[in-house]
Parts: sequence; structure tokens; C-alpha cells
Amino acid sequence: MKDIYIIANWKSNKTSKEASEWINELRGYELTFIHKEIIVCPPFTLLSDIKLLIENNSLNIKLGAQNISLFDEGAFTGEINGKQIKEFGEYVIIGHSERRKNLSETDDEVIKKIRKALENNLMPIVCISNIMQVESLKSEFKELKFVIAYEPLFAIGSGSPDTPENANNIAKQIKNKLNNVKVLYGGSVTSENVNSFTQMQDIDGVLVGKSSLNPLEFYKIIKNA
Ligand code: PGA
Repeated sequence: MKDIYIIANWKSNKTSKEASEWINELRGYELTFIHKEIIVCPPFTLLSDIKLLIENNSLNIKLGAQNISLFDEGAFTGEINGKQIKEFGEYVIIGHSERRKNLSETDDEVIKKIRKALENNLMPIVCISNIMQVESLKSEFKELKFVIAYEPLFAIGSGSPDTPENANNIAKQIKNKLNNVKVLYGGSVTSENVNSFTQMQDIDGVLVGKSSLNPLEFYKIIKNA
């Protein structure tokens, strides 16, 4: 049986009060799933609080960040580096389409950030919105283990996900190009449609934005995945 990754991408949402309410509600649900890896990627400001809440409640949840600095520690005002992320989490989302669009993040920067993540023993969750973006990864990384999230632009936050068949087809193409990667689908995943994606042969999980903000809905996603 394959391991399924269920990753919450909170984007720029939640205060510390809201985050602890989310954890408090989620911990009331049964979270002992086998073959399911649950990862929450909150804003940087919440990593410390959530790490404590996870530890204090012995929850089976791992943590990740939503970005990583191109630089190591030093005079880089406003940046959060890999060593700092590693204090709290094991994963980092890199190259999300919202960063590519709103902050002009390039393929070259994405590659540098992947290197920074790997140098710091963080597992990169690299977002791509089309198969062409795999080419630059392919020329740089051949045998490395990381997670790719296929997130077509039309599906993100729109309520109109890709079809499971199409997403699986892209996942298969990605796996043909990059050895050892896990491929997730992201874009308007809900508790209603999650299983249609996770049951596909080449899809190893989901990256969930909006639907991860509500703890009951996120729990149902985990359960149905
Ligand atoms: P969505 O976002 O689930 O709100 O569509 C997914 C993502 O952008 O990672």
C-alpha cells in the first residue's frame, strides 16, 4: 500500500489564536491513520506555537514552511533561512504559483531554494503548474528524493479541480522524467473529491489550500484520502 501525503498549505492565513483553535478542534478527531503522512505548512509566525501544540498533544502531524530564503544566515533583512526552518519543520513548499506570479519567483530561484532545502535536510515540496517546469528540475536533479505538487493554475482556489485522469497522466509524465519523486495533486481539493485523486495510481497525495483552513473539513480530507 502506498503512503499518502496530505499537506495543508495555510498560505497567509490565521493568527496564533486561530491556529490553536484549529489544533484544539483537530485533536478531538481520530488521527491514527496508517500509511498517511499529515503535514501542516502554516505561516512562519505560527511554526513555533504549532510545534509546541503538536508536541504537547502528541499529534501525528509534521510541520513545514511555505518558503525558504535563497541565503544562509546573515545580513538578509526579512528572510527566513533553512537552518531556522529546520528548528521547527521537516518540509518546505518551494515555487508555489502564487509566489511565481506575485513575487516574480523564477525557475532559477526555485532550483537555488531546492538546494538550500536539501543542504538543511528539509524535504522540498516543489510546486509546478505545467509539465514544462519539470525540465529545468530534470537537468539539475536526477536521483534526488523530493515531492512535486502538480497544481494547474485554473484549479487553484477556483472550486474547479483538474480531472483525476488528467492529474494522474501528468503525475505519470513527471515520474517518467524524475526518478524517486512523489507526486501530489493540488487545486480545489475537498473532502468530497480527495479520494478520486488519491486512488489514482501515480498520485501520492494532495496539497490542500482553502479546505485545510477548517479543521473538520481537513480531518474529513485525511479520512477520505
Ligand atoms: P486550493 O489551493 O486548495 O485553495 O485550491 C491549493 C494550493 O494553492 O496549494
